[in-house]
Amino acid sequence: MNKTTETTSSRLFLFGLPKMAPLFRRYRRDMFVIILTIIIFTAADLAAPVFQRYALNHFVGGGTLDTIAWFLAAYIGVIAIFAVSGYINTKVCLAAEVRMDRDMRNKAFSHLQQLSFDYFNQNSVGYIHARVMSDTSRIGETITWNLADTVFFLIEIVGSIAVMLYYNARLTLLVLIIVPVISLLYALFQGKLFRLHKEVREINSRITGNFNEGITGARTVKSLVIEDKIYEDFEKETGNMFRTSMRSARLKGLLNAVTTLATSAALAIVLWKGGVIAQEEVGTFSLFMSYARGLMDPVNILVESLSLFIQGKVNIERYSKLVETTPGVKDSKAVIDHYGDCFDPKKENWEEIRGDIEFDHVDFMYPDGEEYVLKDFCLKIPFGTNLAIVGETGAGKSTLANLVCRFYEPTAGRVLIDGRDARERSQLWLHSALGYVLQTPQLFTGTIRENLQYGNPAATEEEIMQAIDLVSARSVLEKLEKGLDTNVGEGGDLLSTGEKQLFSFARAILANPRILILDEATASVDTITEQKIQSAIDKVIKGRTSIVIAHRLSTVKGADLILVVENGRIVEQGRHEDLLAQKGAYYRLWMRQFEEESALQLLS
Ligand SMILES: Nc1ncnc2c1ncn2[C@@H]1O[C@H](COP(=O)(O)OP(=O)(O)OP(=O)(O)O)[C@@H](O)[C@H]1O
Ligand SMILES: [Mg+2]
Repeated sequence: MNKTTETTSSRLFLFGLPKMAPLFRRYRRDMFVIILTIIIFTAADLAAPVFQRYALNHFVGGGTLDTIAWFLAAYIGVIAIFAVSGYINTKVCLAAEVRMDRDMRNKAFSHLQQLSFDYFNQNSVGYIHARVMSDTSRIGETITWNLADTVFFLIEIVGSIAVMLYYNARLTLLVLIIVPVISLLYALFQGKLFRLHKEVREINSRITGNFNEGITGARTVKSLVIEDKIYEDFEKETGNMFRTSMRSARLKGLLNAVTTLATSAALAIVLWKGGVIAQEEVGTFSLFMSYARGLMDPVNILVESLSLFIQGKVNIERYSKLVETTPGVKDSKAVIDHYGDCFDPKKENWEEIRGDIEFDHVDFMYPDGEEYVLKDFCLKIPFGTNLAIVGETGAGKSTLANLVCRFYEPTAGRVLIDGRDARERSQLWLHSALGYVLQTPQLFTGTIRENLQYGNPAATEEEIMQAIDLVSARSVLEKLEKGLDTNVGEGGDLLSTGEKQLFSFARAILANPRILILDEATASVDTITEQKIQSAIDKVIKGRTSIVIAHRLSTVKGADLILVVENGRIVEQGRHEDLLAQKGAYYRLWMRQFEEESALQLLS
């Protein structure tokens, strides 16, 4: 028993199948039907030459038509079986393939929803897209059509040989001399073809990458005047693709020629040695001619099917890697049991959030980072505080915001929300009380209304307009022909960055969050709009804990507490006037910006 399991599994491993085992198990009914129908289909296909032999021997050679009625009935029966089993097989293959695609894609997509920031930082959209779309479709294809093909050709070969052996063993053995020679040749060719295919796929993904960058970076390309260089790179890759594809086409042509040659050789043997049989029994001769002619193609295609299975292994491995990636930030089982997860939130168990935040000796390093961004960081932000964080680029401001949102977790130490470690409650619980306007605003394909309703699906037209007024976006809206029903394009790209920022701010306000985080929320709007937003911020932050990250210090003057951060450490903290009086880091930042702005004003 043990031994069988072992040999089976090592044989499966040979074809890269162990990763497919769960899929095989899940779709075992489909696979059973696929294999059963293909066996019946092949058997019916194999029977044709036998009928031919009978007809030639009895009706032509024997000169009698006594059994013709039976013969016809049986023949029509076999053809009906052939047609019906072929139909069922195609239908089940197709249905199973589509179902597998759907299941695998749904699984991958829902898993992606649970993965955290680090995964998306480390893997490009193109890479993830290929895993979810093309790998799944290759896997589905492999274990339906490819499986059916393999079984079909395997039985076709074994069956033909068996029938030939039954009628004339000597002649069969002679014909079979060619098979090992030809199989060896195919295997060699196929190995080479396999490598060429792999190369073509790699070049193809490079071309797609180049193409994406050329399109998404079109503006930068133009401004740098490097169109010729970009085109040259692209042309080089497409040239590579052309040459590799040509090599593969040549090899395929050669493979076809070899098949034809082998078939001719097999037929020659039958003609040469089988001529004698033909004199006495023309039916068996014709049977041999049919099988020998049909033998070489299956050998060729079987080798190809097997190599497709081996290639399928790569797709399965890449797909499994995606669905087996554990999120960097994950709720514990106890937390999920109590608070639910994003597919089944148990809101009845959620405590009301007040909005106290505390960093308790936090060390932090990004998962793929090499240095600590924060080291022993301590800070208390009591409920209702309006905190401002300022500091040079790369100081760690966005990192602090990310930790409050639990997009990342501390490497050591704790982030406390309302006095309890954030990890003791679910991410969803926290996120439902958070409003975050990102440094790089993101809208989704759809109308402005739909985008704002992501903040609060139940928001009425009136509430939406209130939020729009609050962020001074009414004038922007009035410029648009369709108002709230204007389509914003993919990622909101039909709007300017400033406009996107305004609408994502309005979206955050609609959610009525307890904790509001604005990361450079006014970086891309003009000074007048900025002042309007500033007054909006002043209104909105009342009764909430807010963290405002800003480069322009004029926007943080009124904050309850200003932190000056350098290299992940707080170098100064206090209110605007006190910090200016200290004449330290804040004072220097302030003076520099003041000078810069005066210079700009003079220039304009
Ligand atoms: N995803 C990431 N992986 C690795 N390192 C990162 C990542 N994001 C930021 N860092 C590093 O962490 C440090 C702090 O980055 P952070 O984004 O917090 O700066 P910031 O103060 O918000 O800067 P800016 O004002 O430019 O937005 C930087 O040195 C940066 O290189
Ligand atoms: Mg930042």
